Amino acid sequence: MTKMQSTEEDPISFPKTPTPPPEQIEKMFDAIVARYDIFNTVLSLGLEKRWRKAIVRSSRVGVPSVSANSNSNLTTRSATSKRVLDLGCGTGALTITLPPTIKIVGIDLSRVMLETAHKRLSEYHGEYSGDLSNENGCYRNEKLQVGLSQASAYELPFADATFDAVLSAFVLRNLHERQTAFDEVARVTKPGGKIALLDMTEPTNSLMDIGFKVYFHTIAPLVGLAAGHFNAYRYLSRSYAQLPSNEQICLMLAKAGFVHTTATPFTGGVVTLFNATRL
Ligand SMILES: C[S@@+](CC[C@H](N)C(=O)[O-])C[C@H]1O[C@@H](n2cnc3c(N)ncnc32)[C@H](O)[C@@H]1O
Repeated sequence: MTKMQSTEEDPISFPKTPTPPPEQIEKMFDAIVARYDIFNTVLSLGLEKRWRKAIVRSSRVGVPSVSANSNSNLTTRSATSKRVLDLGCGTGALTITLPPTIKIVGIDLSRVMLETAHKRLSEYHGEYSGDLSNENGCYRNEKLQVGLSQASAYELPFADATFDAVLSAFVLRNLHERQTAFDEVARVTKPGGKIALLDMTEPTNSLMDIGFKVYFHTIAPLVGLAAGHFNAYRYLSRSYAQLPSNEQICLMLAKAGFVHTTATPFTGGVVTLFNATRL
C-alpha cells in the first residue's frame, strides 16, 4: 500500500504547507525562546542530547588530525585548530556539546535565540564580549574563540572554505530555500571538510509513523498550549513533514558539491543525521 498523500484521505497526516519565509521564522523563534529548551527536552523524551552528541561524533571534529612535520620526521596531532560552524545555533545547545578546544562560530536568524545562547555560554565558558547591536555585531569569547553572530543560512558572512565542519541540529525543516542554504554551506566548507545535519524526519516504519503522528497531535499541542504559543509549537512539532525524502536531501547535498552523503536514521527514523564530505 502506498502512503496516502492528502489530508482528506488520511486523518493523521499533516498538510505539507510551505515553510514560512525567514522573517516569520525569525519572529517565531524570538517569541518562543523562553521555553524552547524545555519544549525540546519534553517533546524528544530527553533524547535530543543523545542526538546532538551523535552529530558531533559523526563530524569527527574532536578527533585530532595528524599532519607530518617534514623537518623532524614527527607527526603533530591537532584538534584545536579546527574551525566549526554551528548553523542555526539557537540557544547554543549544540554549541556546548562541542569540545571546548574547537573554534566555533554559531549563527542564527533570531536575535533573541542568540542572546539566550550568549547567556548560556557565558555561564558555561566564562564571559563573552561584544554585542549584536550593529550589522556585523557578534559575541566573542577570545579565550575559547567562540563567536555568535546574527546571520542567515542563505547568505553566510564568511569567506570561501572557512570551516573544517558545518553542523546543525533541527534547522533543515525551517529552511524554505534549502538548496541555496546547502550551496552556501558548501561554499564555506573546506575541501575534505565534513557536514553533519540532523533533523526530525518521517519514520519509515509504519507502526512508528502512526505512533509518531499521534504523539505530535496530542502531546505537542498540549505543551504548546501550556507554553502560550500554540501555533508556533504546533508548527515546530509538525514541520518535519515539510522535508523532502532523505534521498532527495542527499541529492541536493551532492548538487551543492558534497560527496559520500549518507542519511542515518535514529530512534526508528524519528530523526535523521545527514553526513557528507566537501569535494
Ligand atoms: C529548532 S531551532 C534549533 C536550534 C538549535 N540548533 C538546537 O539544537 O536547539 C532552529 C533554529 O534555526 C534558526 N534558523 C531558522 N532558519 C534559519 C536561517 N535561514 N538562517 C539561520 N538560522 C535559521 C532559528 O532561528 C532557530 O534558532
